[in-house]
Amino acid sequence: MQLYGAHKLPGKLFIVEGIDGSGKSTQLSLLGQWLRREGYMVFFSEWNSSPLVKATTRRGKNKHMLTPTTFSLIHATDLADRIERHIVPALKAGAIVLADRYIFTAFARDVARGVSPTLVRDLYKFAVKPTRAFYFRVPLDVSLKRILGARAALKYYEAGMDLEMTEDIEESFRLFQGMIRDRYEEMVDEFGLTVIDATRSIEHQQNEVRAIIERDLIDVPKHPVRSLVIE
Ligand SMILES: Nc1ncnc2c1ncn2[C@@H]1O[C@H](COP(=O)(O)OP(=O)(O)O)[C@@H](O)[C@H]1O
Ligand SMILES: [Mg+2]
Repeated sequence: MQLYGAHKLPGKLFIVEGIDGSGKSTQLSLLGQWLRREGYMVFFSEWNSSPLVKATTRRGKNKHMLTPTTFSLIHATDLADRIERHIVPALKAGAIVLADRYIFTAFARDVARGVSPTLVRDLYKFAVKPTRAFYFRVPLDVSLKRILGARAALKYYEAGMDLEMTEDIEESFRLFQGMIRDRYEEMVDEFGLTVIDATRSIEHQQNEVRAIIERDLIDVPKHPVRSLVIE
């Protein structure tokens, strides 16, 4: 297996992490728009989006066939595919890769589901080390209000119903998100995550994130090609 570790590729990899409703996707999308306007080549990659495992994941989820271990392995396959086919080529081309969730999502969720922390960390050894990992820290109540306000129904696995903690899906979601948040908090020091106070306004957070990233991009040339499509 190819191990990328702390890569020497010309591009940069920024990732966002945090519980559902912490504002990750909102911030990443604004970041991408700004970086493109600044003239950088930007490439997005989203958790669980690889065509390689899409059908299997859908079937497994619909039929409630996934166990914590198979769920974990499917997500690892998804990321391995995206890293080899998309993320590394983009980094080689000098792009700024923005990833919506990365290995820490697996470390938080799979461990909350009972998978061994060592096993899941070993499993993802193939992953490229991010230039910077942002962790959007938000109290459970704030994120739940955002999520439950914005969406119709919770899904079985995202609510952690497979853990059989309670039959009430909203209660299960609260419990599961709380477990995931505890895992994230433990990882702040372990992996040096950059913590953003995600209770503040969208604009306030975006300004902070941009200021941090600007310093990380000092040595990255702006590119005449503004976007990169790799299929
Ligand atoms: N700072 C914020 N304050 C208030 N609402 C927010 C904030 N950031 C995001 N939201 C809203 O919360 C919801 C979830 O945001 P989203 O970016 O999708 O979170 P995530 O990707 O972390 O699940 C969306 O409806 C979004 O508009
Ligand atoms: Mg999101």
